[in-house]
Amino acid sequence: MKVLVTGVAGQLGHDVMNELAKRGYEGTGSDIAPVYSGIADDSAVTKMPYAAMDITDKASVEHIIMEQKPDVVIHCAAWTAVDLAEDDDKVEKVRLVNAKGTENIALVCKKLDCKMVYISTDYVFDGQGTQPWDPDCKDYKPQNVYGQTKLEGELAVANNLEKYFIVRIAWVFGVNGKNFIKTMLNVGKNHNEIRVVNDQIGTPTYTYDLARLLVDMIETDKYGYYHVTNEGGYISWYDFTVEIFRQAVLQGHCEYAPDKVKVTPVTTEEYGISKAKRPFNSRLDKSKLAANGFRPLPAWQDALERYLKVIEF
Ligand SMILES: NC(=O)c1ccc[n+]([C@@H]2O[C@H](COP(=O)([O-])OP(=O)(O)OC[C@H]3O[C@@H](n4cnc5c(N)ncnc54)[C@H](OP(=O)(O)O)[C@@H]3O)[C@@H](O)[C@H]2O)c1
Repeated sequence: MKVLVTGVAGQLGHDVMNELAKRGYEGTGSDIAPVYSGIADDSAVTKMPYAAMDITDKASVEHIIMEQKPDVVIHCAAWTAVDLAEDDDKVEKVRLVNAKGTENIALVCKKLDCKMVYISTDYVFDGQGTQPWDPDCKDYKPQNVYGQTKLEGELAVANNLEKYFIVRIAWVFGVNGKNFIKTMLNVGKNHNEIRVVNDQIGTPTYTYDLARLLVDMIETDKYGYYHVTNEGGYISWYDFTVEIFRQAVLQGHCEYAPDKVKVTPVTTEEYGISKAKRPFNSRLDKSKLAANGFRPLPAWQDALERYLKVIEF
């Protein structure tokens, strides 16, 4: 199976490429930079074929994908800076990347009759209530520009293709890029107290674990909408931070002990305004995975333990 992966300079694309290599598939990586620009960790992705492609450039997308003739495109590239996306002068660019860029890819997949995987987010919903979101719920109501443009990307896939997987994920962390865990470890090192919101609820997703499931998916024709995060239950960002520091101490980093850095739970309101409105309810119902014979991801606590062993902090 020949697979083209976009966004390989980011968190998920990097791990998807390594998973493809591990399982003996032919992967070509792609991102906007002229050459591979992710971490130089000597993993397979750093040596695999690479094609520079700006997904907003329709002609380039058509040329490169037609030339590669993949059996599957796993589309991980996106504008992911959620707050920056709210700036008036950025909205058009965000839409170009997340909506038009995705449409460009979907139209070529249609021509080639190949499978497409589009990675999306719970931000397509309004983030209210406490019920986990069902993957086939069509009650879309994005609360910010990022969510709105990711939804437009979903529609570009679903309206043009039949052989697609739309996989919504949340609270992502991986070795190749910025994420909440790295931010907390940095902030925790330099502060005696940090305030973290405890009324936004979800579950983290480790890109290393997700990559395995995405490759399982493309081996099938069980198309449609899916929700994926790690298992281990629903938590708040506050709960996540407490566990990050607890495990960091267990791994020998005493600077994160409770007497060195106090983690204080606050409400979103107490924390103060962020540019983009964030969902309170990011609970994703993942039961459709097992119902379709897919193996769920390990618990997030286990994922965090493995992650802290591979990053430097
Ligand atoms: N991160 C999260 O918490 C989260 C949560 C839910 C869903 N998701 C979704 O999961 C997917 C993977 O996320 P991630 O965290 O791995 O993202 P990421 O680390 O931000 O990587 C995205 C990559 O896409 C590239 N890109 C941006 N514009 C491009 C363009 N015009 N042409 C080609 N490449 C372009 C970025 O390059 P530059 O860095 O140079 O811009 C970056 O290398 C995305 O679809 C995202 O929307 C993420």
